[in-house]
Order: sequence, then structure tokens, then C-alpha cells
Amino acid sequence: MRFSDEFLYNLRQNNPIEQVMSSYVTLKKQGRNYACVCPFHADKNPSCIVYTDTASYYCFGCHAGGDVITFIREIENVDFNEAVKILADRVGMIMPEDGGTDGTKAYKKARLLEMNRTAANFYYSVLTSKSGIKGQMYFQSRGIKPETVKKYGLGYAPDKWSALRDYMNSKKFSDSELIEAKLCVMSQKGTVYDMFRDRVIFPILDVSRNVIAFGGRIIDGSGPKYLNSPETYVFNKGKNLFSFNFAKKAKPEKIILAEGYMDVVALNQAGFENAVATLGTALTLDQASLIAKNASKKEVIVSYDSDEAGRAAAQRAIKIFAQADPDVSVSILNIEGAKDPDEYIKKFGAQRFRLLLDSSENAMEFELKKCKDGLDLSKEADKAKYLKKVLYVLAEIPSPIDREVYISKIADEQDVGKEVLRSQVARLMKSREKSEKDLKWSGITARTVNHFSDDVNPDAKKYPKEDKAERGILAYLFDSPERLDEILKKVPPDKFVTAFNKKVYSAFAKKAKNTEHFSISVFADEFSNEEMGKISEIIAKSRDITITDEVVEDYIRVVLSHDDGIGDDENISDDDFLKMVEKMKKNR
Ligand code: UTP
Ligand code: MN
Repeated sequence: MRFSDEFLYNLRQNNPIEQVMSSYVTLKKQGRNYACVCPFHADKNPSCIVYTDTASYYCFGCHAGGDVITFIREIENVDFNEAVKILADRVGMIMPEDGGTDGTKAYKKARLLEMNRTAANFYYSVLTSKSGIKGQMYFQSRGIKPETVKKYGLGYAPDKWSALRDYMNSKKFSDSELIEAKLCVMSQKGTVYDMFRDRVIFPILDVSRNVIAFGGRIIDGSGPKYLNSPETYVFNKGKNLFSFNFAKKAKPEKIILAEGYMDVVALNQAGFENAVATLGTALTLDQASLIAKNASKKEVIVSYDSDEAGRAAAQRAIKIFAQADPDVSVSILNIEGAKDPDEYIKKFGAQRFRLLLDSSENAMEFELKKCKDGLDLSKEADKAKYLKKVLYVLAEIPSPIDREVYISKIADEQDVGKEVLRSQVARLMKSREKSEKDLKWSGITARTVNHFSDDVNPDAKKYPKEDKAERGILAYLFDSPERLDEILKKVPPDKFVTAFNKKVYSAFAKKAKNTEHFSISVFADEFSNEEMGKISEIIAKSRDITITDEVVEDYIRVVLSHDDGIGDDENISDDDFLKMVEKMKKNR
């Protein structure tokens, strides 16, 4: 069940962390804060600090940390909902109605869907009427035909504060229902206004063709390019896909995963019914399984934008597919000469796109090719760098047979001995296994192992400099959230190098804008306990240092000047590696 921000805010207000924690541990006053012997590991000294100003805790010994809900989850070993219940009971708060009996739940769901359907009809009829001329012109300029508009039920939200609201009120939907459906928003002054204004509308349907949400694209002017409905009782962003209703119906052998709504609509119009996109968020495991399950040949073609961000997202998608379904085969589409599939089809036509699909690259080839980025392989030093990067890719291939195939391929291609590659890969795999084991047996309990920061952000080891800078930027923002927009302009989340920091930064960007009461708690429902611990660590460790504006600028520079090379903490230096390669060549 999902709780409203307001309910959770009140819950936390009523349950000050120091009060809650003091019924489990003995707190000692320490300035403004408290310290205690950490209940989550065999602690002798009080290493756990409770910060009253941010209502959070962090243990410097085992890295546990979070807000009051995280604390209850950890100490009572319960999930988020149960922790909320415990805290609500503690102070006599009534749990929000979770729809009550099944009857009322079903009613509520039906009502929300009815509202969405009515709103979709409204947006569509506006678009196709005189007052929708701006939207019509827009779709026309993007090459979308009227029959495609109809097929997708695309629409236009008028440039008015209360167009949808008035219409829905006339259909007997109340303001509070409209707010619950996220079709309208209440301002701080209490005025209710339309969520989507002067935007073209993409209705999002589930497989039963229910309208569950909307995406709205800006036509001109300012603001975010796309606005997506927040989650509601009927809309879960991570479990649905745009155009999946059409893709599923087509019973395809392969599914094309694109980045944008526009790409999918253009692909569909060009005859590719098997195209889907995520809903304004990164691919989730659920979505990956859904895609894999519905492609009869278990083949997926990731067709993201051709820019740096798109390529990075494609790489992440590969990993998620592998995790979701080990049998799925993923290829990456190499779009050259256009920024995305939509533009490609417009420039070169559907036929050429089909050819492109057939020549899409296998994910492993893609990863290997990526190792060459920025290197000049005619230079020996670059070649050594390349081979070192390749080792890391090879060491991650789980199947020994596949691994051998690629080892041979690279050895031939680069004219180096197979043995040297094979032994280096083996060495790398072994040292990884060892470091995992070391962690397990270093005397801490299995439970606290989870808190180890490197587990949460494994990239930090690879990119220590960047990790430090990113944490600095995050800590700075926690302190001065009002600087967010400015910092976002200088360094957008996709420039962050390490995956976890990037996730925190993206969530921060999203939440800080939508939350009146910003605190670490806004992350609690989206991040695991281990991740909350890491976030608390970032904040806790920066408390005693003042991050000045200049320091932030420096951090930003570090992040922006990151090149995708491998970090400096390898167990083998470039020179040594080069020497080894040379030696093997001579010995052959
Ligand atoms: P793109 O910016 O690539 O959009 O973002 P697009 O769909 O290709 O649109 P055009 O061609 O520029 O009109 C890809 C997807 O990322 C999400 C949307 O789901 C979008 O379709 N997104 C993007 C947002 O949710 N919000 C934004 O502000 C931007
Ligand atoms: Mn795009």
C-alpha cells in the first residue's frame, strides 16, 4: 500500500527519532545530537549518532542509517508497511484507509479508471476540435498521421488552469477525486488546477486497455519536456510500459525497447507494433521480465537514443535484462546519423530501419566495442589500456564457454596470446571472489555486511575521485536544497559516474521539487535499508566540513571531467600490462 506524503510527514513528526530510538537503546546527549552503542553490530563504543535536526541516524561502525522508519524496519525486522503501522500505533494515529473491504477497493479502482477514461476522451476531443489546432499542428510537424492520433488516443490539454477540472466537475467528479487521480493539483492556497496545461497528451494504457496515466509533452515555452502522472492506485510506473497493449497483441518474436513515447509512436506508425518504452523512469526488473516473457523468441532490441546518455542507459538495460531473465538475448541498436529511432525513420525510412534492426549488435560485442572509446589502438599504450578494460568485461561473462569464445576473438583481433588473456581474466575473477569472501569473514556478522558501502555503490571503488565529488555535491544539496536547480543545470544526474550516487541525485531532483518538507525521509519508500544507510553516511560524514560554493564548483568539475577510463587502483599498471603483452608476443 502507498501512503500519502502528508501522512508520512505527520507520522514522522509525531515520532521524533530520539524518542523512538530511546525505547531500544540508551541515548547519550552529545551537543545537539545523541550517541548510542549501535544495536546493529557488536559495538563497544557509541558509534551510532542520532541527528535531531535531520531526524536521522548513522552508525560510523557498521554504516547502518536512515530515518525513523528505517530504524524500525531494521530493529524489528519488518517491511516498510509494517514499520509504518508500528509507528502509527505507537502514537495512536489511524492508518489511512487502504480501500477498506474488497468491494470499496474495486469501486475506487473503477472510479479512477473511469476518471482517466473521461479525461482521455476530453483531451482527444479537444485535440480534434478547433481549439486543439496548436496540438494538431504539433503532431503534424512531427509526422504523426491522424490515424495514429486516433489509434493512440493522443490529445491536447488546453492552455487554461481549469479546462479539465470544469469538464470533469460537470461529469460529477469532485475536486478531491481529481486530485487523487492526479489529474488536478491543489495549490498552497487551496486552489485546484489542471495538472496538464498546454501540452500534447499521451494516454498510457494497460493490457486491458484501461487508461491508467498520462504523459504530457510541452509544445513550446518552459518547464520540463515531459510531465508524467505520478503514481496512483491504478498506476505503477515500474510495472507498466508505454504501448505494451499493442506490442502484446502483436505476439512478436522480438520486442523493441525505445526511450521515448515519440519514438514508440513513430515506430508503431512505421509498422513496428512491437515497440515499447518505459514511463519516464529507468527500466525496472519487472518491466524487463514482462518484455522478455512476451517476446516469443526471447529477443530484445534496445533502441535508445544515440547520445552518451542513451548509450549509458542501454548498458544499464542490458544488465537488468540479464538479471530479470537469464535466457533473454539482448541486442543494442546502433543508430547512426540520427539521434533516435523517430528521427532515423523520418530521415531514412522504415525500410532502412528494418535493415538496422537486422544488423543490431549483440550486447557483448557492444560492451567490448565500448572499451575502445576514446582510444587510438594504433598506439601501444592505448592498446594496453583497451586490453585492460576488456579484461573486466570478459571477467564478468558467467558462462565459461562464452568467455572462451570472446577471449579467442579478442586475442586474434588484437594479436595477443590467448593464454595471457585467459590467465589475466582468471586472475581478475579470483581476486574478485576473494574480496567478496574477505568481506564475509572479516569478523562482522552477516547482517552488517549488507551495510558495507561498497555493496551499495560498487562503482565507488572504481572511481574513488568521482565518488567523493558526487557525495560532496549531494551533501551540499542536502544542506541547501534551494540551490538544486542551479546545480542541476551545471551537472544533470546522467553525468554522475557512479550508479548509486546517480540514483540518489535523480531521486533528489525529483523529490526536492515535489516535496514541501524536504528531509532524508523522502527517500525511505524508494530506497532499501542498506541504501538509506549509505545516504545517511553521505550526510553524516559531511557534517563537520563546510562545503563552500567554490568547493562545489570543484566537485562539479571533477564529475564533468570524468573520462570513461578505468580507475587508477588496478592491481596491474598500464606499463606492466604492456610489458606482459609484449613478452607473450615474443614468446609465441
Ligand atoms: P526524450 O527527451 O528522448 O523524449 O525522453 P522523446 O520521447 O524522444 O520526445 P521528443 O522526440 O523529444 O519529442 C525520453 C523519455 O524520457 C521521459 C519520457 O518518457 C520521454 O518519452 N522524459 C523525458 C520525462 O519523463 N521527462 C522529461 O522531462 C523528459
Ligand atoms: Mn528522444
